[in-house]
Parts: sequence; structure tokens; C-alpha cells
Amino acid sequence: MNQIDLSVNYLGFNLRNPVIIGSSGLTDSVEKIKNLEKFGAGAVVLKSLFEEQILIESVKIIKENQTDYPGVDEYIAAYTRDHYLEDYLKLVEESKQAVDIPVIANINCISDNDWISFATKIEKAGADALELNIAILPSDINVNSTDNEKKYFAIIEKVRAQISIPISLKMSDYSAGLANLIQQLSYTGNVDNFVLFNRYYRPDIDIDTLKVITSSLYSMPSEISTSLRWIALLSGNIKKELVASTGVHDGRGVIKQILAGASAVQMVSAIYKKGAEYINVVLKDIEKWMKEKRFESIDDFKGKVSYDQAENPTVFERTQFMRYFSNIK
Ligand SMILES: Cc1cc2nc3c(=O)[nH]c(=O)nc-3n(C[C@H](O)[C@H](O)[C@H](O)COP(=O)(O)O)c2cc1C
Repeated sequence: MNQIDLSVNYLGFNLRNPVIIGSSGLTDSVEKIKNLEKFGAGAVVLKSLFEEQILIESVKIIKENQTDYPGVDEYIAAYTRDHYLEDYLKLVEESKQAVDIPVIANINCISDNDWISFATKIEKAGADALELNIAILPSDINVNSTDNEKKYFAIIEKVRAQISIPISLKMSDYSAGLANLIQQLSYTGNVDNFVLFNRYYRPDIDIDTLKVITSSLYSMPSEISTSLRWIALLSGNIKKELVASTGVHDGRGVIKQILAGASAVQMVSAIYKKGAEYINVVLKDIEKWMKEKRFESIDDFKGKVSYDQAENPTVFERTQFMRYFSNIK
């Protein structure tokens, strides 16, 4: 048997392995990124530049600097935005100089307004690709799903017009017509791959204080099933790379997602809990499994248990536990 080859194609880059460290505080400094590379990360996605945060920063500074001069508010808003952005661009530039693995910038956005011009600066700073984390919570009772989904199309069209580096779209699973939406987005030619899915902030209620609190910040391994289902259902139909995110906590999780048809995976919670060294453990576990199964490359098993290739694919479509309900007393 030949040497095990873990390399994969991702957004036109040859990654040494499919384990990407997702956007988070794990990727907010050059030192942390160097460490992630050292322990084997295939690529990194930088922490998000938040559209929301940029606006809040501007308002905060304006409030602190109340003046009567006309036009000053706009000046301060623009200054603050640029300042905040400068730090981000520095992170992109310095990370690119410090590591050989691809560095993907990330913007968290909800509109196609103000922030779009930032994409050009990010490209100029040297980012290998841009991941758009389009965070649309369909919570407005006056907005129907078509209008919510239009935002995705508007954003990617405007960003594509600004930059030529690959664009990755990190989505949520909140969509009534998810499969069709992803297919239509793939047809636009404005997106190079899809990250399924972002894990949103989860609220909880403290029954002692009667206050809203943050539920678990980190995912559980059992949360893998949502992205696994959709990667399996879509990988045979969508002619773009699909990248799994949420609930990938170990080598087994990576293997499952690739069997379902993922091109790569993103890991965050498990690395927060176990440290950058754990990437090495994950990679070793994948290699061990590949040896046992006599697979020499990732392509040898990619998609083998996708909807199109699994022996019993309807399980991916099953929504009811009918059989179990009738048997479990
Ligand atoms: C502490 C923390 C910070 C995060 N920050 C970001 C962020 O800035 N941008 C983003 O797109 N996703 C962010 N995420 C979401 C992760 O990139 C990822 O999609 C999510 O945690 C699911 O993956 P996991 O199950 O491997 O943790 C964050 C997650 C955590 C736990």
C-alpha cells in the first residue's frame, strides 16, 4: 500500500489535509494561526469582521464625542470604521506572511450595504479567499422566505463584482427551501463553495433569575447530524464544494463528513476544548482508519455514503421516528 495522502482541493488550493480551523477567537492573532499551522491545520478562516460590530463601534464613538459641528458624526463614523478595519487588514497581511497554509478572511454580514467595499481591501491585503457568513434569522413576521433569501443573492452579486479571489458562503440551515436555495445560489456563479452550517448563538432562560442567558457556546459531537444530513443529500447534486461545519469533534467526524460528500471540514469547538495539538490527533486517527480500510487518498472514500451512493439513502430524508416510537415503550 502506498503512502496515505490526506490532501484535498479547496477553493482551488491544494490543502495538505481537509481539517480547516473555522472562524472564531482561535484565529484572531498571528501567533495562534502559526500554532494551528504547526499542529497540522489544512487552512484557517480568520475571525469575522462583523458588519454589526463596525456599526456599533461607530455609534459608540459618536456618542462619546457629541459635538455641534455638522458633518462631524459622519467623519467619526468613517474614521472608526477604517480604524477597526485596519486592525483586521493587518491580521490578514501578517498571517499571510507568517504561514504557508491558505488564510481565508471572513465577514459576518446581514445586508448588501456599507461593508461591501471592505471586501476589496481584504483582497488587497492578501487573503486567499473570502468566507461570507451571511447571518439571516427569518424572525420578522412581515418578511416572507423569498424576500429573506433575496438577501443572499444581493450580497454575493455585489461582493463578486468587487473581488476576484474565491468566495465561500457560510450559511445557516434556516430556510424553508434549503436545497433549492443552495442550488440557485450555486447557479449564480458568484459563490465558489458552501460551508454548511454556521452554528448560531443559542439563547436559554435562567429560571432562578428569570433572565435570558447564553446557552452552550460550544457544540456537542451529536450536533454533527444536521450538517451530515445536508451534505449527504446535496453533495451529488450541487456542483460546488460543500464544507461541513458544526459538530465535527474528532477523526471519526471528519471521516463521516467526507463519506457524506464533504470536500473539507471546519472545526472550532473541539479545538477550543482540546487545544491546537489535538489537530494532530485527529489527522492520525483519519490516517489509521484509511489504512485499515485500505484507502490511499481522500478521494477514494469521498461521497461513498452520500445520498446518491449509500445503500439505504432514504435514512437521510427520514424526519419521523415512526418505527422507534412504536417499538419503544
Ligand atoms: C467562541 C466562538 C467564536 C466564534 N466566532 C465566529 C466568528 O467570528 N465568525 C463565524 O463565522 N463563526 C464563528 N463561530 C462559529 C464557528 O466558526 C463554527 O461555525 C461553529 O462553532 C460550529 O462549529 P463547531 O461545532 O466545530 O464548533 C464561533 C464559534 C465559537 C465557539
